[in-house]
Amino acid sequence: MCGIIGYVGSESAVPIIIEGLKKLEYRGYDSAGIAVYNTPGFKVVKQKGRLAALESALNGCPVYGTMGIGHTRWATHGEPSDINSHPHVGSKNKIAVVHNGIIENYRQIKEYLERKGITFASQTDSEVIAQLAEYYYNGDILDTVIRVSNALEGSYALGIMCVNEPDTLIAVKKDNPLIIGVSGSGNFIASDVPAVLKHTNKIYYLNDKEIAVIQKDSVRFFNIGKEPLQKSTETVSWTVDSAEKGGYPHFMLKEIMEQPKVLRDTLRSSVDGGDNEKVLDSVDITRFNRVVITACGSAYNAGVVAKYVFERLCRILTETELASEFRYKNAIVDEKTLVILISQSGETADTIAAMREAKAKGAATLSVVNVVGSTVAKESDYCVYTAAGPEIAVATTKAFSAQLILLYTLAIRFSVKLGKITRLEETALLSELSLLPEKAADILKQVDSIQKYASECVGYKSIFFIGRNIDYSIALEGSLKLKEISYIHSEAYAGGELKHGTISLIEDNTLVVAISTNKRLAGKIMSNVEQVISRGAKVLLIGNCSEAEENEKVSIVTLPECGELFSPSLSVIVLQLFSYYVAANKGLEIDKPRNLAKSVTVE
Ligand code: F6R
Repeated sequence: MCGIIGYVGSESAVPIIIEGLKKLEYRGYDSAGIAVYNTPGFKVVKQKGRLAALESALNGCPVYGTMGIGHTRWATHGEPSDINSHPHVGSKNKIAVVHNGIIENYRQIKEYLERKGITFASQTDSEVIAQLAEYYYNGDILDTVIRVSNALEGSYALGIMCVNEPDTLIAVKKDNPLIIGVSGSGNFIASDVPAVLKHTNKIYYLNDKEIAVIQKDSVRFFNIGKEPLQKSTETVSWTVDSAEKGGYPHFMLKEIMEQPKVLRDTLRSSVDGGDNEKVLDSVDITRFNRVVITACGSAYNAGVVAKYVFERLCRILTETELASEFRYKNAIVDEKTLVILISQSGETADTIAAMREAKAKGAATLSVVNVVGSTVAKESDYCVYTAAGPEIAVATTKAFSAQLILLYTLAIRFSVKLGKITRLEETALLSELSLLPEKAADILKQVDSIQKYASECVGYKSIFFIGRNIDYSIALEGSLKLKEISYIHSEAYAGGELKHGTISLIEDNTLVVAISTNKRLAGKIMSNVEQVISRGAKVLLIGNCSEAEENEKVSIVTLPECGELFSPSLSVIVLQLFSYYVAANKGLEIDKPRNLAKSVTVE
């Protein structure tokens, strides 16, 4: 949450920073700002609202300079307003700061500085960083940043400029991501790789409490004791195109359409000597008597799917817990527990905390992560990567699908090692997986009919999702996707639970989306369908339910044939398209739903 970018080089900083902010807008979009060094001081322009508002402010008041920092905000302390937007500059106009994170002891620091006569301009926690840095500044910006870091409690990724050092950008982080990109025409700091991809794919990943001193032609690193550090760049494989809309109206639609490729790439890396396979081979699953999967939001839903798959294939007790609950419940995990973390960003605050809690209790941790070099990836004992490429839309689609296919492979591998399936059965399951990309592509061909159906659904006040067993777990994801982008009230229920309370909510003008991929339970879900129809609901049935017929109350989307365990990979695509087109027909800003941001780096 909140995106930061900085540039120092030979080119004009403003267009580079604005371009970078556009790629980071998914991290927050209630206000944006920019500060550029321009002799003899900083030019700061900041504006409440979307980045477009900042752009028009800059058009009216052009700013020149070759070093600057920019920020796109998701408000935590202080409402979205011009004054609360970043960058924040100390009252002597000496130090400018952009911040991603939360400063937990900001009140104490603010009171301390106010007693020293310093006047604050904003209600943010972040302003204390600029004010404290100015207060401590002794002519050496590195010393100052070290002192400030030592004084701050909480989480921060910071980009800092000082008027006395007009060619130097400073970066430091703790518990929030920050990367440094290097190129022939200058160097960058950013919250995420897509912000700099247009200029470079050579990246330094900053670790907690490491400080980078960045100039046009050099990047130097220091630890918090001011000792120099040696770091090397990594080459990122993501391309510039992968972070562009490529002609689609929204990133979300583009990312939905990319899923066949993403499934193929992720699978490739997990079999036949691919990088993930090597990692999986090194995990001795026989050491463990329990698996705990923990994650947030959609990643949690992928974990709910995985619980069914793990228990079915590996016959190992598997629990899936919300990371925000796991971290505070004094979880019962020990060295005989394998804790699996799932995270697209690898920077979700609750998932990081859950991972650290699990490690502190002696559990082994294995992460399923999309962003290379992220905190979860680095700190977990084992890490396998989804090959989803950069995901820009706030609502996850392709990363979710990549998580599913990787988790299936995990379950298959572990099942063999546990002696629960034979090599022959393994081959059969893997070959079933290899057909998923093609089947996903077949579903995407039904886009027009799903779009048409969704366009008739914009008027519903409530939409319920039901399923049983693994279909229930994907119902959770369908419901989350719909509510987050369409703002229609929605809940997911296990079909059998309807008559224990929820059915009282079913009336005219209710839609029930029923998922039925499980032949054993098809009859049961069809009974649920009858029950809701007789109470006035309409039904969208997704699956391969041969006994169902379309009529004025029931519409059907038929999925390609697929075993029950892997069917979520197909049903979810219908659910994603349905949500997307409901939101599109309501004319909503799909890639940036209200109040949300991607990469939830604050608690
Ligand atoms: C929903 C969505 C979120 C994320 C959640 C976890 O569409 O995208 O619910 O799944 O914030 O994020 P990561 O996977 O980055 O840990």
